[in-house]
Amino acid sequence: MGHVFISRAVPGRALDLLTAAGHSVETWSGDLPPPPETLGAKLAAAHAAFTTVVDFVSTGMLAAAPRLKIVANMAVGYDNVDPVAAAGMGIWVTNTPGVLAETTADMAWALLMAAARNVVAGDRDTRAGGWQTWSPTGFLGVDVFGATLGIVGLGEIGEAVARRATGFKMRVLYHSRTHKPALEADLGLEHRPLSELLAESDFVSLHTPLTAETRHLMSTGQFAAMKPSAILVNTSRGGVVDQDALIEALRSGAIAGAALDVTTPEPLPLDSPLYGFPNVVITPHIASASLATRSRMAEMAAENIIAVLKGTPPIHPVNHPANPRQT
Ligand code: GLV
Repeated sequence: MGHVFISRAVPGRALDLLTAAGHSVETWSGDLPPPPETLGAKLAAAHAAFTTVVDFVSTGMLAAAPRLKIVANMAVGYDNVDPVAAAGMGIWVTNTPGVLAETTADMAWALLMAAARNVVAGDRDTRAGGWQTWSPTGFLGVDVFGATLGIVGLGEIGEAVARRATGFKMRVLYHSRTHKPALEADLGLEHRPLSELLAESDFVSLHTPLTAETRHLMSTGQFAAMKPSAILVNTSRGGVVDQDALIEALRSGAIAGAALDVTTPEPLPLDSPLYGFPNVVITPHIASASLATRSRMAEMAAENIIAVLKGTPPIHPVNHPANPRQT
């Protein structure tokens, strides 16, 4: 039986699953993630690490963890660990695909609607006593119904966002490495090169993983290509956006607004100029945060650990060690 380190308290049955399988479990009890030195020390003593997106597992930490067999990330993204380096050391890296697509798509839509219709600015103003009367000119937003939505990255989350757009009778463009003819036919999607998608869209929603290719995919040139009336929605990773370029685009009016669930860094420091724009909505990386989805994500991470500690491959690997560690 193995020793499992869980980097935060998690909802659902994950803990029960691990202990029922006979493993000893240590859960980090802090409200904040373990600092890097602590995380390294915990990994060095564990057979399995149960991590979240804010636990940056360095290659050095992996190398200093002789018994570690798996890093089970409670997330679909895994840019906080290098799966190739881990595989080279015989360590599995796993994620939680499938379960969070609909919940994340709901949030992308919540952000899109909030930015389009001044939901947050209106709430803030109301609480501050600003609601004096019905105003013909107050909080004028933009229509979502019938607008053009550009989806960058058509994986399972991008697709879930696109499905919701049909109810709003939107024209939906997408940019993705692979064309998806079946989805184009099913949902009426149109593939576009990124520059054309940006030029035509009223809303641009990002759904790519963060990789070397997608880092700063949205930078000065891309913001210049967008309509000045357009709104950017980001529920992917902060690093997909060149944040300085975004700030400049908001300042200069190159785009009309942004709704961000992810930033660089996280948490976004309180002195960030992004907080100064009334047309920017910021939430604290909560796109998958429904009780049901986070519980299921945690259970999946536990299931991956249980499989590997039993000596079998995990259910959701993102790497494939040629010689998985046995001891
Ligand atoms: C959350 O950001 C995830 O990747 O699941």
